[in-house]
Amino acid sequence: MLKLTYLSHSSFLLDDGNEKLIIDPFITGNPNSPIKNVGDIKVNYIVLTHAHGDHLGDGIEISKACGATIIAVNELANYVADKGAKAHNMHIGGGWNFSFGRLKFTIAHHGSATPDGKYMGEPAGVVIKMGGKTLYHTGDTGLFLDMKLIGERDKIDLLCVPIGDNFTMGIDDAVKATEFVNPALAIPMHYNTFKIIEADPHEFVVKVKSIRINGQVMEFGQTLQF
Ligand code: NI
Ligand code: MN
Repeated sequence: MLKLTYLSHSSFLLDDGNEKLIIDPFITGNPNSPIKNVGDIKVNYIVLTHAHGDHLGDGIEISKACGATIIAVNELANYVADKGAKAHNMHIGGGWNFSFGRLKFTIAHHGSATPDGKYMGEPAGVVIKMGGKTLYHTGDTGLFLDMKLIGERDKIDLLCVPIGDNFTMGIDDAVKATEFVNPALAIPMHYNTFKIIEADPHEFVVKVKSIRINGQVMEFGQTLQF
């Protein structure tokens, strides 16, 4: 069993009934966050795809408050550890069997600098096996053909894909990404947080349906159980 809650932007909460994991916890400064108080977040793990402020978010503070381990690529893991967070260093292509399941970082075509301008190595996507399901969160990225390989290596149940354009894929490239990965369900993300990434997630769902893949718009704060 896997419960997936969409916290808006690129942030998701995964709960297998035993452990909780949050991806890219952007709460402070996120107008769409259904969680207003960072102190309400109690998780075992925090996964960071890259260091941009809308992904690193409140990760360090959450780790320090509840003791959660931040999982990130080496450069970013060292940075958060220097700031007092607990960290597990990984890198792209590497997987590790955590208490909740296996997690592997993938490539992403983007940047990764902290809000104060320190470069943090490569941005990433992540494949997470938890609660009997496999989720691929692409992180912020443009479209790339290797997504086909990611979909071949693991049968993806849930794909979280950005549609907001400008900084990442827009809708049409996200539809192509979904075709490459061929998941059981595609969930749009990284839209409507700011004016510059306005997009209609329903247009994405209609377009993936035309290639016979299920898509679903998750409301901010909505939980689905798989
Ligand atoms: Ni970014
Ligand atoms: Mn972003």
